[in-house]
This record gives sequence, structure tokens and C-alpha cells, in this order.
Amino acid sequence: MNRRTALGVIAFGGAAALVTTRFAIIGSRAESKPAIRVPRFEVPLKTPAVLNATKRTETQDEYDIVQSEAEQEILPGHATRIWGYQGTFPGPTIRVRRGRTAVVRHTNRLSTHTVVHLHGGRTPADSDGFTTDIVMPGETRTYTYANQQRASTLWYHDHAMDHTGENVYRGLAGLYIIEDVEELSLPLPKGAFDVPLLLQDRRFNADGSLMYDTFGHEGIQGNVMLINGVPWPRMEVSTRKYRFRILNGSNARPFRLALSNGDPFILIGTDGGLLAEPVAVRNLPLAMAERAEVVVDFSRVPVGSKVFLMNTRERPELQQLMRFDVAHRESDNASVPSRLSDPGFLSRPASVNTRTWALQRSFSFRHGLPPFIWTINGQHFDPDRSDAKVPLGDIELWRLRSEGGGQLHPAHVHLAHFQILERNGNPPLPHERGWKDTVGLEPGEEALVMLRFEQFRGRYLFHCHNLEHEDHAMMSRFDVV
Ligand code: C2O
Ligand code: CU
Ligand code: CU
Repeated sequence: MNRRTALGVIAFGGAAALVTTRFAIIGSRAESKPAIRVPRFEVPLKTPAVLNATKRTETQDEYDIVQSEAEQEILPGHATRIWGYQGTFPGPTIRVRRGRTAVVRHTNRLSTHTVVHLHGGRTPADSDGFTTDIVMPGETRTYTYANQQRASTLWYHDHAMDHTGENVYRGLAGLYIIEDVEELSLPLPKGAFDVPLLLQDRRFNADGSLMYDTFGHEGIQGNVMLINGVPWPRMEVSTRKYRFRILNGSNARPFRLALSNGDPFILIGTDGGLLAEPVAVRNLPLAMAERAEVVVDFSRVPVGSKVFLMNTRERPELQQLMRFDVAHRESDNASVPSRLSDPGFLSRPASVNTRTWALQRSFSFRHGLPPFIWTINGQHFDPDRSDAKVPLGDIELWRLRSEGGGQLHPAHVHLAHFQILERNGNPPLPHERGWKDTVGLEPGEEALVMLRFEQFRGRYLFHCHNLEHEDHAMMSRFDVV
């Protein structure tokens, strides 16, 4: 199905910008069942449960997760079969303390094989979730995370070779938050005012089941916006500051976030934790897998106002993602300090090894393969081939380049966070001036990044985080030696 026709199935009450439609009609025209009416800005936002440790010792926390199928009411009045960590979509949030080891035992009770990757994690190779380190149905695998890294918002998600897109789409993703004493001592909004927003778009069949087109090499986009698994939610807020940890957990939908009242986001953190200083941004691009931590200040917004979180990359009628209803007057004890942290950036050595990673679309004439395939430096992914051997502890420059295909490619590196030195020869965008593990590259764009792999040797991955591109070979293995 052509994406434009598919999106055309959604009926809206009006086409003009900023028209709020109260529901969307979804479901394929080809099906005989009546389409589903999905209310917009009616269902309250939920926050994924925080996972309790099974056991705590002096130095480590142990967790047990069962990957299972479940029926969940995502669209009001309809049951949707999901594949979830603890049977939930999204999975529970794992909150850990820096320096304490987390041991996470995953048991696969699904009918498909899985792999768990901690995105943004500095983890030993055998716990990184290399795409062929599969856990078969009925098996259990233990992943060990050292958490010797900055306080930050990471996420864990499936990484099974050729099946990551579908596994994540059906629910295998959750947040993983590392806290530390330094960050907790800051006067930033905390507790109920520190809210994750996991953005995912999905498409449903008329019977409420998730529709996944496995042949979508371009990347699957949905016509229902889910935030923390809730369609087009609303959230009641008070006249005070909130911290939002925003993750683009979509398979293939990029965002450019904005607030409908024109207020800026106070950006405080990126993929790898807090920035040195906060920066106000009115437009916040967020490619797949990128995170942005922002403070939104509702203190000057009149009670009774409604503020929308917008995706200004889309046509006007698709822009509204969720609604904040400013409902209560409340005093605010939180603040955003002008100095947030010391990111401990690297300094660029006089001589340094540089590698280029070109993300490309190539044609394939091999029988049984799609007519085109996504490649890196001209090659399809092969788990047995190492495309780079990077010495442990060396600083390197990586030139990440998007060549062709006409689509955004979020370039993602496992194991290390990087600093973006240049984007298309210019300084990086405001939201790219902290530690990053993913950078969104529009067609023809290039980022020059500096990075250093520390602590662990072994095989890791570099890939495009459009999950259908990744599943269609846009991935490389590198080895830290
Ligand atoms: Cu978000 Cu290789 O992963
Ligand atoms: Cu990753
Ligand atoms: Cu891509």
C-alpha cells in the first residue's frame, strides 16, 4: 500500500491548520469490518510502571523480565495483541543508579526469537544484544549492565537480526533511566514532574490488531500516534515546570517538535545525559532513537489553556501529538540552573584516525531479495564480517554520511557516545551539543563526530535506526580490539 493513500484513510473534521479533531477514523478500506474511531486528546497519558528489582545486594540490582504476548486496550474499547516486556506496551521502565550493576534476566515466552539491546548503554559485548545473540522461545538470557556512565535516558529494545522492526513495533521497547547523585542534587523537576514521553506511531487493522507490513523496506509509518502506549493523550498539568524525557521510539517516523503556544523547550539533555548549560529551542528535531530532555514551564500559561505538543514535520492535520491541559495553579519549587553538568568532552588530538560510514541505497539483483537494499559503504550487513577494528581507548573521528535513498537516516553507534564536531561543515544543531549516540541525517547530509570506545572489547554494531532499513541490511559490525 502506498503511504499517501494509507494516510488518506484517516478522516479529519477539518483540514485547516490548528483545527483540533476529536477523533480519527482508522482501519483499511479493503476490510469489511467497520473502521475504528479513535478519540483524540481524551485518554489521559499514562506513565510506564517502574520495574521492581527482584533482589538487591550491596553492589547490584537484579531484575527479571518475561517477554510475553498479551491483550492490551490501546485503542479505547478494542483489544490489541502485543508482544511485551512483562506483557506490556511499552515495557516497564528500569531505573538504576550509576555505579550499581544491573543484572536483567529475560525469559522469552513469545513464539519468536528475540535479542535485547540496551540502547546508549556501555555494556560488555555479550550483554549488548548483538543481533545474532538470539534468545529462543522458552530460553532465558542474563544481561549485565555496569552502569558506569553518565546519568541519562536510555532505552532497551529488541535487536533480532531481520526482525527488529516487527519486534519493536509489536511492543518490545522500554525506557532505562540512569540516575546519579550529582544530577539528583540539581533543583530540576523531580518525581511526578519528571515524565517520560515515548513517541511511537502505529497502524491498526479494523479488528484492533497491529498492522505490520514486513515488506516495507522504506520504513513503516502509522496513522495513530501513541505516547507511552496511549493514543493522542491528554495530560493535566499545573502552572509549574515539568521535565520531559522524550524518546522517539518510532520505527520510521522522524519528528520536529514544537509547542503550539510558541513557548520554547528548555533543552537540558541529549542521548548521553545533561548538557553543560540549558538552551531554549522552539524547534526540536528528533530522529528515530534520539532522546531529548526538556523542561517546559507552564507557570505563565493561564489556567484553562490547552497547549499541544506538535510535530511540525507533518501536514497541519497530522501535527498535533498530545495536549497539555493547564488545569491547576501551583507554586513551583523547581528551577533550571544555568550550569547543569560537566559533560567531560574529549579534546581533539593532533593526529587521529578518521573513518567514513556512508549510508546508501543500492539495487540488488539477487534472487529472492527486494529490488533495492540499504547498504553501508556499499555492503549489506554480514554478522560474520568485521567492517572496522577500533583500538580500545583511541579517539577517532567518524564521518557519517547519508548518500541517497531520499529518506532520513538516523546513524547510531553502539557502546560509545560521540560528540558532533560538525554538521555539513557547520557547527552542530543546538540539540546536538551534548553527548549523542544517534544523529539524524537528511539526504546528502554529513556529520563529523568524535568518539572513544572504553572499557569493553568485542563486537558491536553501527546502523541506521530506521528499523526497516536496519532489517534490510543497513548495519555494520565493528570490533573494539
Ligand atoms: Cu537502538 Cu542498535 O539500537
Ligand atoms: Cu543501540
Ligand atoms: Cu536509513
